[in-house]
Amino acid sequence: MERTFVMLKPDAVKRRLIGEIIKRIEAKNLNIVAMKMMHIDRKLAETHYSEHREKPFFKDLVEFITSGPVVTMIVEGPNAISVIRAMMGATNPFNAAPGTIRGDFGLDLTQNLIHGSDSPQSAQRELALFFPEEIE
Ligand code: RTP
Ligand code: MG
Repeated sequence: MERTFVMLKPDAVKRRLIGEIIKRIEAKNLNIVAMKMMHIDRKLAETHYSEHREKPFFKDLVEFITSGPVVTMIVEGPNAISVIRAMMGATNPFNAAPGTIRGDFGLDLTQNLIHGSDSPQSAQRELALFFPEEIE
C-alpha cells in the first residue's frame, strides 16, 4: 500500500469537474482516505512548488494555484503514486493521451486540472504540508 497527495486545481473546481475526477479515482479502486476543500495562500503555494522557484513559469503557477479553491486528498492503493500520475497524463495537456484526465479535459499548460506527487519523497513532503494531522 502506498499513499499519494492529490490536488484538484482551481480550474477543475471552476469547471465542475470534481465529481468526474473523483469518479475516476474511485472507479480505479483507489481509496480516498482524507479530503478537504481549501484556498491555498501564497506562502503554502510557494512552499508546495518550491522545486520550481527559479523557473520562468513560477509566478504564473503560484498565481493560478491561489486563484480559487482546490480539493486536496490523500489517495491510497498499490503503487498509488505512479497509478495517479498515469491517470493524470502528461504535464502539457497538448501531449496528454486521450483517456487521461489532462488528455480528456485539458487544453492549457498552467490550467491542467490535477496535481499528483511525483515520487515517494514528494508524497511524504506534500502530505506533511497539506495533511499534518494525518501523519502518524
Ligand atoms: P504538478 O506538479 O502540478 O502535478 O504537475 P507536473 O508534476 O506534471 O509538472 P511539473 O513539472 O511539476 O510542473 C508544475 C506545473 O508547472 C506548470 N508548468 N509550466 N511553462 C512551462 O514550461 C511549464 N512547465 C510546467 C504546469 O502547470 C505544471 O503542472
Ligand atoms: Mg510536479
